[in-house]
Amino acid sequence: MWPSEDSHSAEIFARAKQVLPGGISRLLTWVDPYPIYAKRGAGAYIEDVDGVWRFDLLNNFASLIHGHAHPAIIAAVGEVVANGTCFAFPTEREIELAELLCARVASVDRVRFCNSGTEAVMIALKAARAHTGRHRIAKIEGAYHGMYDHAEVSLDSTPENWGNAPASTPHTHGTPPAVLDDTLVLPMNHPEETERLLRANAGTLAAVLIDPVPTQIGMIEMTPEYIELIQTVARDIGALIVIDEVIAFRLDYHGAQARYGIKPDLTTFAKIIGGGFPVGAVCGTKDAMAVFSHEHGHPLNPSSGTFTGNPVSMAAGLATMKNLTPETYQRLEALGTQARVGLLDAFKQVGRPGQITGVGAMFQLHFHERPLIDYRSAYARPEEAALAKTVHRGMLDRGFILSPRCSAFLSTVMTETEIADMGEALAETLAAAVA
Ligand SMILES: Cc1ncc(COP(=O)(O)O)c(C=O)c1O
Repeated sequence: MWPSEDSHSAEIFARAKQVLPGGISRLLTWVDPYPIYAKRGAGAYIEDVDGVWRFDLLNNFASLIHGHAHPAIIAAVGEVVANGTCFAFPTEREIELAELLCARVASVDRVRFCNSGTEAVMIALKAARAHTGRHRIAKIEGAYHGMYDHAEVSLDSTPENWGNAPASTPHTHGTPPAVLDDTLVLPMNHPEETERLLRANAGTLAAVLIDPVPTQIGMIEMTPEYIELIQTVARDIGALIVIDEVIAFRLDYHGAQARYGIKPDLTTFAKIIGGGFPVGAVCGTKDAMAVFSHEHGHPLNPSSGTFTGNPVSMAAGLATMKNLTPETYQRLEALGTQARVGLLDAFKQVGRPGQITGVGAMFQLHFHERPLIDYRSAYARPEEAALAKTVHRGMLDRGFILSPRCSAFLSTVMTETEIADMGEALAETLAAAVA
């Protein structure tokens, strides 16, 4: 059950409100009436401060792929921290992790580390501008790419403001009008409209930013036809293709780009490549990445950061990635398939309309059966959003942590039995919601 008003979680939240705006540091973690505070994590489970263990399907929003406190990662980190956590000298570990990324992902010849996915996207877009001498970027309506101004545009457009052709809408109050003007918004999986928009803006676009399975658009995949169109037109108009694999790298050993046949100029990684520690990386072809190099004078894109390439994140990332083999990816895929089949079955058992999207080891529940193709079709109607809230709470009460929008990211330490139990918990939750 939700922690009661005399729980430790409630008590901590009362203190939090005195020092943090709204009592939290991270909007995505907010759950009404107060967050459940974590005490510790072990494998696939989190214990809260009131001593309740729950099955963690969120894995810190897809950043843990081996669950909590994985022994190999803890050992790697332990070895580093005892000898100093950061230096104004580089360490060999950043080269080792970069070598691993270059070896695994075909388009990656060079790597520039940073500390988050937000930073990686920001730096990649700046790199594309430096490379092309153009200033505008194109992105998909509703796609989340972190908090950089241009990347945030039209993140949460609504039927009231999204327009016919996607309007550039601000996510943050006070977004400069120039940011909106400089961000072209594309409708996912609408190739004709996208081609028209890209060609009409040719000459000003530095980059087309894509994620083949945007989680904020309900984990719907880009169609092969749409991916093909983006690649062809981006090449024609001389804009760089930037693929955001901050989450999607968990879909394939060789990157989501291999799975979807994408040949990007630049790729952003974060989350799993830091093994539970802050990290980001901009990667790409030798040509696109040349803007970072100081070898021929001041770089076209000077990028730096105090904790960039720090040995703790590098060691945790290396241990994580070394434990992710083609076989573990296959197992994650199988767990994901099992989950999606079981969850759909739960909807059927209860006789409620619903569908499950997602690929690999991630999924999202939708409480309707209309075809899902883009941000607008995935946009939850008020009654669907209300049901998502009820199901999220119901699953928490039964010991399963989903995201508030009822999505999940599985880890290698989860078992088939636990995934089957999750399906049963959903059937019970839906039945209770109908009652
Ligand atoms: C696709 C995508 N890009 C970028 C980001 C931003 O990453 P970070 O939270 O590390 O800044 C996220 C975060 O969830 C993401 O899902």
